[in-house]
Amino acid sequence: MTENGTVRAPAAVPVVEVEDLTVRVRRGSTLLTLVEGLSYQVAPARSLAIVGESGAGKSIGIRAVLGLLDPRRFEVTGTVRLAGVDLATLPKAKRRGLVTSVASLVFQDPTRSLNPTMRVGPQIAEAMLAGSGRPDEAAGEPAVGRAEARRRSVELMRDVGIAAPEERYFAYPHELSGGMRQRIVIAIALACQPKVIFCDEPTSSLDVTTQAAIIDLLDGLRESRSIGTVVVTHDLALAASRAEQVLVMYGGQAVETLPAKGIARTSRMPYTQALIRAVPDVGTPGRPPRPIEGLPPDPRTPPPGCAFAPRCEHVRDDCAEERPALVEVSTGHSVRCWHPVAVTGQETTAANLPAARQPEVTR
Ligand SMILES: Nc1ncnc2c1ncn2[C@@H]1O[C@H](COP(=O)(O)OP(=O)(O)OP(=O)(O)O)[C@@H](O)[C@H]1O
Ligand SMILES: [Mg+2]
Repeated sequence: MTENGTVRAPAAVPVVEVEDLTVRVRRGSTLLTLVEGLSYQVAPARSLAIVGESGAGKSIGIRAVLGLLDPRRFEVTGTVRLAGVDLATLPKAKRRGLVTSVASLVFQDPTRSLNPTMRVGPQIAEAMLAGSGRPDEAAGEPAVGRAEARRRSVELMRDVGIAAPEERYFAYPHELSGGMRQRIVIAIALACQPKVIFCDEPTSSLDVTTQAAIIDLLDGLRESRSIGTVVVTHDLALAASRAEQVLVMYGGQAVETLPAKGIARTSRMPYTQALIRAVPDVGTPGRPPRPIEGLPPDPRTPPPGCAFAPRCEHVRDDCAEERPALVEVSTGHSVRCWHPVAVTGQETTAANLPAARQPEVTR
């Protein structure tokens, strides 16, 4: 109840909450940091795009959230809550069950996600049967029988836009186009009725028209089934046009997170701006895309200051001294930069930057 007596709807529990996720890999006697201090959350039916160049830690970050990294090689710290449940509070055996009942993962290449020797329909039904022996049976949901799994799989195939699903149920993956195969992978991802779908470059192996159709499909499912989506992509244009929130990763860290709408105007991190200039359709129309010079940092030799400093066209002497923190500059917008730029190209006020080291203010 609010002060004036109206009843406020309770805020939806995020389908995924990640707090201070750090991933290190063992290399000989040392530990290399691949992802550091990553935090984000996604509410039901909302979408987050994670963008950044190759090697930024996008895939490793997702695999860590889903508990898919081999603990003998990777050390993962931080908090992951799926549908409000902190995975660390569950015994190991139950953790896997919760992850598979709440979250699904769609990979870039549908051919590798499907079993080439098995007809596609039964692959969906199998995922459903595997998922139906899960913990929420205790909450009154009966396990799905074979006939029911088959009926629901045909329905799912229809839902993901596959025409004549009764016939295609019996097709082998190689008998379908790339786009159709990715739709089957999405149907498999939906089989356990997940609350969140993680997609790692879901469309990069597809042609442009099919890419758009698959993204349309994911958007439709997000709304109709109230599923949250986390889409990893190199394609900033895609991220900006389809997601609600964008998280930009660089050298294993979030360097900017901001609402996707108007990103070309609102971004204040030089790296995000460089990414924007590197794609033709998000930057200024008519201006040719400009690739970012230089290479991203190597996790074996992390730079002492801002990781982007060696490639940044706004770099100042003090940028390379210390790592900047990720600082909120407005609601839903945080930046990791000593000298965030404004749309006008002017440096912004220091009001929101860490007190320990305030940059001079340009008036
Ligand atoms: N299995 C692994 N063992 C050790 N290091 C790894 C492993 N997989 C990835 N890395 C390293 O982790 C860092 C992040 O890799 P990751 O695959 O997450 O990047 P990415 O952002 O997904 O890149 P891409 O866009 O190319 O898919 C890279 O430096 C990579 O070399
Ligand atoms: Mg990747």
